[in-house]
Order: sequence, then structure tokens, then C-alpha cells
Amino acid sequence: MSEPTYILGIESSCDETACSIVANGTDVLSNSIASQIDLHKRFGGVVPELASRAHIEAINNIIAEAIEQAGVAPEKISAVAIANEPGLIGSLLIGLMAAKTIAWIWDVPLVAVNHVYAHAYAASLDEGPIEYPAAALICSGGHTALYRCDSPMDMTLLGGTIDDAAGEAFDKVAKILELSYPGGPVIDRISREGDPKLIDFPRSLLAGDSLDFSFSGLKTAVLYHVNGVPGPRPTRVGKKPGPTARRAAMQENAGRGIENFTQQEIADVAAGFQAAVVDTLKIKLRRAAGKIDVKTLVIGGGVAANSALRAAVTELGDKLGCAVRMPKMAYCVDNAAMTAGLAYHYLQAGQVADLTLAARPTVRI
Ligand code: KG4
Ligand code: ZN
Repeated sequence: MSEPTYILGIESSCDETACSIVANGTDVLSNSIASQIDLHKRFGGVVPELASRAHIEAINNIIAEAIEQAGVAPEKISAVAIANEPGLIGSLLIGLMAAKTIAWIWDVPLVAVNHVYAHAYAASLDEGPIEYPAAALICSGGHTALYRCDSPMDMTLLGGTIDDAAGEAFDKVAKILELSYPGGPVIDRISREGDPKLIDFPRSLLAGDSLDFSFSGLKTAVLYHVNGVPGPRPTRVGKKPGPTARRAAMQENAGRGIENFTQQEIADVAAGFQAAVVDTLKIKLRRAAGKIDVKTLVIGGGVAANSALRAAVTELGDKLGCAVRMPKMAYCVDNAAMTAGLAYHYLQAGQVADLTLAARPTVRI
């Protein structure tokens, strides 16, 4: 039997420093991740400058750990894969420099991978190939998009968010509800205690058969539910309203403020919000599937860890009579196994990069 093709992947596009070794595109031999959640927690979101610095501190150890855990001798590794787009520029550059350095020292090809395409590939890890054509819904802290996929490398964008990403909405709503960061896991957990039908939050479906998403109105609806709808600004000719007058106007229409909500009421808000997000994602995925002769529904990204979304997509697959592929929990959030796995297909196709490869923070994907 021939020797497997081992690829070392590196991922540093946002706030996870990760390295992984994957054999033949699907067998994950190691998956090392240094998470920066504790660092960014008190800011309620990722602070780019802090993220870059933390990547520098973590990357050497993470690479060493992944190589050691995989137990594969470096001379057996066929290529180094890097997620060079999209992401935070400072973060991307740290991983890219590390990947170029290793590829140069080991004298192996460098393979460039799109981070969002890698999320769509994550469901293959440990499991095997996805049957195409597929409709893929990728939703994370930075992205929410729908694709038609004809192979791991052949992705056509069908729609995306016009404002907040789904994960970003989870994080911001958790902040409004004074829950911990990141918001997704905690909203998922407490929603189980809440009634998803009690508060009818808006589902922004946009016009006609649009496959785009919008979550900022939903986030504002939660904010108003908690803090009240701001009243009209008091106007007095020739005088700008002072802070007291503005506060009085706010209070006229004020909600009760999160400090006056019971645990049960917070759970009801969380469940209502989550139901609105999941309904919207499901409806759009169904629309996308309707435009393609799909064999498989695929989800990926941090929000693909959401239990209500997983249940809804499973149900949709049953209804449409097609397969459903969801990544294992460890491969939903950012990781380098999906980078190394997808890179196998580019390497097979002879699509490799060279040491002039650039980081691209924003790309139309
Ligand atoms: O894919 P990821 O690690 O990073 C990006 O590429 O953005 O996704 C992180 C996002 C965060 O917004 C987090 O709140 C969300 O995924 N998330 C979840 C869950 N677990 C993580 N959202 C909903 N439910 C979850 N269980
Ligand atoms: Zn991601």
C-alpha cells in the first residue's frame, strides 16, 4: 500500500492559533488549537491588535505540539497548507509567515486555502467525502454565506449577509443579555430552558427569493425588547437637548433593563432570538437547495455547533430526501484540520502557491 499524503495545515485568520496534520485529506492525526477567548472576553469581541500579538506568542508551540501528537516525521510531510484569506490582516500574516518558513526549510510546496471554503470542507474530516452537488451554509463569527459546491474546490457564492454575521449576532445579543463571551454556546445552552415562541422576533428574509441574510434588525429588536424603544429626541428651538432630556425621552418608552429580567425571562429572550436566527438560516438553505439539484446539505463554521440549527438542518434533509453533513464539534470552530484537509485536493490538482503568496483580508468569496 502506498504511503499516505500528509499535510501540515496552519490557521490564524482570527483569534485561534491552530496547526494540524491530516492524512489523505480526511484522517486527522492532530488538531492543536490555542484559543484567545480569555484575552478578548472583557471586550466582548476580538481586538485585532491583541489577536496578532497572541498568535506570535502561541504559534511555535502549537506547531511543535501538532507535529509531536501526529507522530509523523517531518520528512514525510508532503506540503504545508495555510489559510491566507479572508481574515484579520495582522492575524493572517503570522500564520502565513510561519507556513512559508516551514515550507522553505522542508522544501515542500505551500498550498493556499480560503478559510470559508475550509469551513465548508470540515464535515469531511474523520468521515470521508461529501457527495456533490451540495448546498453549503457557512455561518461563523465573521461570515454567513450560502454556496453551491460542485467539489471541495469548486464553490459558487449564492448569497451572504448584508450586515452582521450570524455568530456576531449571537455574540452581540449575549452582550445585551449580559451573558458570557462568546455568545453562541451560552445562548444555545440557556435557550433549552426558554420558550422560543413567547417573543416573536423578526425574521429578515429580504425580498422574493433572496439568498442574502440580515441580522442587524433582529439584534436591534432584542435590544429594544430589553431596554425599550428610544423615544423621539426632545427638541427646543435653538437648543440641543442635554443628557438629562435625552435620558427622559428614552425612559418614556423604556423597557425594564436587563437587571430587572428574571433568569426565565432571559432564557425566553435567548430562545426567541435563537429561533429567529435558526428559522432564517433554514429557510435560506431550503431556498438554495431548491435552486440546485442537491445531493447533500452541508453546514460549517462556529454557528454550525448550534444544537437547534443542527436539529433544523437534519429535519430539512429528511424532508428534501438528501444527505446532511455537519462537522464534528471540534471542527465547527476555527481549526487547521479543515485547512490541511482541503489543501489535499489542491495539491492533487497541482494548484500550489509559492513564497510570494500574500495574505488577503477581504475577498469576495
Ligand atoms: O468559526 P468560528 O470559530 O470563527 C469565525 O470564523 O468567526 O466561529 C465563532 C462564532 C462565534 O460568534 C460564536 O458565538 C459562534 O461561532 N458559536 C455558536 C455556537 N458555538 C460557537 N453560535 C451558536 N451556537 C453555538 N453553539
Ligand atoms: Zn472561521
